[in-house]
Parts: sequence; C-alpha cells; structure tokens
Amino acid sequence: MHITFCCADTRPEPWLEGLRAALPGATVSEWRPGAAQADHAVVWSPPQQFLDEQPGLKGLFNIGAGVDALLKLKLPPAAKVVRLDDAGMSVQMAEYVCHAVIRHFREFDGYEADMGAGRWSFRKPRTRADFAVGVMGLGVLGQRVAKALRHFEFPVHGWSRSAKAVEGVHCHAGADQFDGFLSACRVLVNLLPLTPDTRDILNRRTLSRLQPGGYLINVARGAHLVDEDLIALLDEGHLAGATLDVFRTEPLPAEHGFWKHPKITLTPHTSARTLRDESIAQIAGKILALERGEPVAGVVDPVRGY
Ligand code: NAP
Ligand code: GLV
Repeated sequence: MHITFCCADTRPEPWLEGLRAALPGATVSEWRPGAAQADHAVVWSPPQQFLDEQPGLKGLFNIGAGVDALLKLKLPPAAKVVRLDDAGMSVQMAEYVCHAVIRHFREFDGYEADMGAGRWSFRKPRTRADFAVGVMGLGVLGQRVAKALRHFEFPVHGWSRSAKAVEGVHCHAGADQFDGFLSACRVLVNLLPLTPDTRDILNRRTLSRLQPGGYLINVARGAHLVDEDLIALLDEGHLAGATLDVFRTEPLPAEHGFWKHPKITLTPHTSARTLRDESIAQIAGKILALERGEPVAGVVDPVRGY
C-alpha cells in the first residue's frame, strides 16, 4: 500500500515518520510532481496538480475538520474525502469558546485595564440568564462546545441543519428556525462548515437579530462573516464586541480594520489545532478499515459540502 503526503504549511518529516510507524508495511512518501500513483493521500490544501496526477486515490484524508479548501478542487472520482473527526480538537474548541464567553461575561478585559491603571474597582455582577449563548452548528465541535457552556450554567441554544436533541441545550433546526434562534441569543458562536449555504451568514441582517449588547465569537471560517457589517454594528453599538479566530484572508492583512478595533479580540486561527499524534492514529486506523472494506466515520458528502 502506498500513502502519499501533500500538506501545505506543514513540516512533512514528523508526519511521514508517524505514518510509517502506524502503518508498518506501507510505503509513505511526500508527494512530488510526477510521483507514482498512491492508494491514499494525507492532505491539507493540496494543489490541483496533485489531484490531477493521482486519479486512482481511494481515500483523501484531510488533516483538519473543515474541508472547504479541498472541495473547491476537482477530486479523483473514486476518492472518499475523510475529515478529522475530533482527534483532540473538540476539547481545545471548548476551552477557547468558554474562555471567550467568560472573559466577556465577567468583564475581565475591563478589570485588566483597571488593574493596569492602578484602579481597585468593582463592577456590578451581571446576570447569567441575560447571556444566552447560541452555537451555530451542532456537529462534532459545536456539541462539545454547547455542553461545556452548560457546565457554567449559561442558557445555551444550538442551531443545525437537521433536528438534534442535546441535553440542556435548546435546539433549533433549519432555515425556518434561524431567526428565532438568533433572537434568543446574546452571544453567538459560529461552528458551521463553510458551504454555499453558509458563506456570508454572519451579516448585518443576522447579527442585528442578536439581543442588544450582542457578542460574536467566530471560530469556523472567515468567509462566514461580512467584515464591514460586523464593524458597522460594533461602531453603532448594537454589538458589544467580538472574538475572531478566522479571517477571509489569512494571515490577516496589516491594513485590516479588525487589527486595531477596540471591541475586537483576535487570535491567529488557533482555536483548535490539529494534533499530530492523535490525527495520525485516527487516519492510520481509518486507512486500515477502508482497506478491509469497513465503513469509517467522518466521510464527507461533497454535495452537502461537509
Ligand atoms: P461537523 O461535525 O461537520 O458539524 C457541522 C454542523 O453544522 C452540523 O451540526 C450541521 O448540521 C451544521 N450545518 C451545516 N450546514 C448547515 C446549514 N446550512 N444550516 C444549519 N446548520 C448547518 O463540523 P465540526 O467538526 O463541528 O467543525 C465545524 C467547522 O469548524 C469546520 O467545518 C471548520 O470550518 C471549523 N474549524 C475551525 C477550527 C479553528 O481552529 N478555527 C478548527 C476546526 C474546525 P447537521 O448536524 O444537521 O448536519
Ligand atoms: C481548522 O481550521 C480545521 O478545519 O481543522
């Protein structure tokens, strides 16, 4: 069996060593133009040339949860596209989102500024019931985040395409229930995949539906958000702030208005990182399962887009 590795912005050696150790007997090599046909590929944002030269691939294993970059390409006809299925990401995402929600709710930025200025001051405690959090996307990551937020006793709402039941979470589903979901929430967390249906979904119309003093946490993809609509709603005062981990262009261009906006907190696409050892173990297990003709979790539906 031949495994090829073609991942942008990723040091190949540790992955190649890890895959060789996990799949003894397989040939594992980094892809180069003109390389021999492989059975399976481990990929992140590969060039179209790679896919064109590997028409016989049976599996394309994406080393992330989101497959939007991969699905933009013309894929080998028989290849199953398989996304990372948690592999240590959901706990990171829960940490990141709970941290952002709690920092906002408890006004820790304000306390940090006060302490920095030598001011010993108290703020009136805010009421948790006034800070309903809505999670867009109740998949692998969204459900973990929603459950983590419940531990802190925030009212939690969730929105997905198909109806869900998650203990302690008010679940809404489908386009018909989207506006009701938004108006029930003060804090909005985006954990949707980027698809034609969800591109630009965070815009003036939708963000205006959040309760006054709304707060946005975007940890999915930059193209979900209409940047200028967010800035306008922050400047008009309808939204109190935003924490953004993902951007339309990454790295975020130096001249972008998000950098210096006083109500925006930025991180460099780091909310849930791919963990190499966990990912290799998961991918190797799935390659072996596919070779045995068994089903695997995390197979993407290219028509649905996730
Ligand atoms: P997932 O398991 O595929 O879950 C996606 C969820 O979104 C599902 O609940 C799905 O509904 C819902 N959904 C999809 N299209 C929808 C629509 N049109 N309307 C309403 N709901 C819709 O994905 P995941 O593993 O949780 O990951 C979510 C996204 O997070 C990824 O696609 C990626 O873009 C992003 N991500 C970011 C980072 C980071 O570091 N910033 C790290 C990992 C992932 P159904 O359940 O009904 O299908
Ligand atoms: C990261 O953004 C991922 O999709 O895993």
